[in-house]
Amino acid sequence: MNHIKIDPDRQLGNINPHIFGGFAEHLGRCFYGGIYEPGSPLADEHGFRKDVLEALSRLKMPIIRYPGGNFVSGYRWMDGVGPVEDRPARPELAWETIEPNHFGTNEFIQFCRKINTEPYFVVNCGDGDMREARDWVEYCNSSQETALTKLRSQHGFAAPHNIKYWGIGNEVDGEWQIGYKTPQEYARAYKEFAKVMRWVDPSIKLLASVVSNWNAEFVERTQLLLDHASEFIDYLAIHWYVGNPENDFARYMTVSEIFEERISATEGLINAMKLQRNIRRPIAIAVDEWNVWYRARGNTLEERNNLEEIYNLEDALVVAMHFNAFIRHAQSVKMANIAQIVNVIAPIFTNREGLFLQTIYYPFELYSRTCGNIALDPFWKGDTFSAGDHSALRTLDVSASLNEAEKSLTIFVVNRSQTDALETTVSLESGVFAGDFQAHVVNGPDIKATNSFDKPNQVGIQKAVLTAERSQLNYTFEPHSVTALICPLS
Ligand code: AHR
Repeated sequence: MNHIKIDPDRQLGNINPHIFGGFAEHLGRCFYGGIYEPGSPLADEHGFRKDVLEALSRLKMPIIRYPGGNFVSGYRWMDGVGPVEDRPARPELAWETIEPNHFGTNEFIQFCRKINTEPYFVVNCGDGDMREARDWVEYCNSSQETALTKLRSQHGFAAPHNIKYWGIGNEVDGEWQIGYKTPQEYARAYKEFAKVMRWVDPSIKLLASVVSNWNAEFVERTQLLLDHASEFIDYLAIHWYVGNPENDFARYMTVSEIFEERISATEGLINAMKLQRNIRRPIAIAVDEWNVWYRARGNTLEERNNLEEIYNLEDALVVAMHFNAFIRHAQSVKMANIAQIVNVIAPIFTNREGLFLQTIYYPFELYSRTCGNIALDPFWKGDTFSAGDHSALRTLDVSASLNEAEKSLTIFVVNRSQTDALETTVSLESGVFAGDFQAHVVNGPDIKATNSFDKPNQVGIQKAVLTAERSQLNYTFEPHSVTALICPLS
């Protein structure tokens, strides 16, 4: 028997809805042939695929990072504005293609408006310079009469876009990046970029790219950045990708510990530096690229860098465990962006005729639509498992949230057992349940189940209504499932 105890008064902090963010890069068929396909019978009058917009809207992503990724470290934003026929095609070094620049800043803003999301831009701190970065802020956000704002008006956008979130560089800690930087080089560059960008628009929030290469000197890197530039840092951005290359389900299910280690280490570094340097301003964590990624390669030369992964049910469980970690660390993780959103390592997969929703789409939809605004601190105990370097991990992976406006709890549970249904009591430490509760379950026939154009519904969400007794409910979590129990309080 498993037991989960929830006290609605044991609150960890506000959950920032930005933890349900996304990331869209000029890469493969994310934009061209995915989100944006002018001339397609499925596209609207601006060239956006209506079926893709609808599927994305269901995910309720409040923020989307753009335009890269590795792509941004060689990107010239000026190439992507103005009349499409005048825009230059350029060799794209990160993913070895030609970038036609038919999609750019203003198309992205239109896209964001269509799906009611907020843009988060990353500037080129690879082969780009400060001038280019601050010009982009001016082009997007200024309301003064300048050459760049006139240009924006000529491009059809008289009003500023008011882009609030700006990242400086992408994965600058990796040798694979155009313009890789040592910790010293980045700390210095970051501050100078940040200074001029803030001088152009003092209201912007800035994100520093701190760790993607967890085998390198990330402690020194974080320390140097906070030493040099803390007054310009609103978020420290970290990245990771996980997978199950050994095809060992139990071991894969221990990835929750990687998330815990990396988030806790970053929290610790921030707290230590704040104490040592008497930094009083808040500095949050943004996990602004995360996902499952097996490094799939296309079959042809053109498709070799399309990164078109097909996800299975076990990957969906891992996506859910990410959200549990973000909710349990809601005090520090204020943004997270699944990488990516369409076709490229993504929950939505298109062809010219339509799309299907991958397994990982469903936990995303479930969490973003049912999560409350306050993170709670649940206690749970029961069955355990051991795998890899980990022993006695709890088989259930749990997070809980309170929706203050609706007076209800949402308890998210991943059952990491491949075989066992786990009987569980959920008890309230204070207050009582209002009666009926809903169980929304993501599951499929087995852990390797995938969705496809032929079989689009192998993995999906099932819903049931059940009854709670005063301060206790009993529920049996299906093997290899993700469940949200949505429980109104009286
Ligand atoms: O999301 C794919 C790539 O992964 C991004 O371009 C890069 O930032 C990361 O390494």
